Amino acid sequence: CSSASAGGDQSACHLPRSDRYAALNQKGATLWMTGCSGAGKTTIATALEEKLIKEYGKHVYRLDGDNIRTGLNRDLGFTASDRDESVRRVGEISTLFSDAGVITLVGLISPYREGRDSVRKRHEDQGIPFYEVFLDVPVEELMSRDPKGLYEKVKSGELKHFTCIDDPYEEPLHPEITLKTRDLKIEESVEILFRRLREDGVLE
Ligand code: PPS
Ligand code: MG
Repeated sequence: CSSASAGGDQSACHLPRSDRYAALNQKGATLWMTGCSGAGKTTIATALEEKLIKEYGKHVYRLDGDNIRTGLNRDLGFTASDRDESVRRVGEISTLFSDAGVITLVGLISPYREGRDSVRKRHEDQGIPFYEVFLDVPVEELMSRDPKGLYEKVKSGELKHFTCIDDPYEEPLHPEITLKTRDLKIEESVEILFRRLREDGVLE
């Protein structure tokens, strides 16, 4: 049934999720990309979004730290508790979007294991497919990419408490998917995610 209905009470559901998905000809799922700044979260999610929409006509939406922080999360900074709250909020939204039948692509550093695991549990409790996608990239590679010039600012001391350098990043222990983006082209990462969705019946 729909997650929006209180406490999973089936009798309160006038439109079961399976009926919704069948009518829309689409199933929802959340792909949660986690990894350090510059690992490729935005890039890969954007490329996958484009493929699924343009080639397959799917309803897809990206929730990315960069744009979420200008609106929904504009009151949050980078302290541990603010990051936890950001992950919680985006976790709730991704659960709702996926329940609604949207393939939801999240790109958040989401540095803490506990927060990511809570989001996984929210999805699992409601029977919504959830994939933790770990973008696993060595720090030297991130520093040499430095697309936003942020690692340079960390080096010069202008920027402090930067994740994966002087602020923690807890690597996933059991991610559903790991992408070592140093060794993969963008299209190869996209293909891995696309195939997995097809194998699991999210895409038919
Ligand atoms: S988090 O940890 O999940 O709350 O981070 P997120 O919302 O994804 O935001 C990460 C982007 O914010 C920029 N930025 C920082 N990142 C890490 N640490 C610090 N201190 C920081 N300050 C600003 C940075 O551009 C991140 O963008 P991405 O896309 O990850 O490179
Ligand atoms: Mg990004």
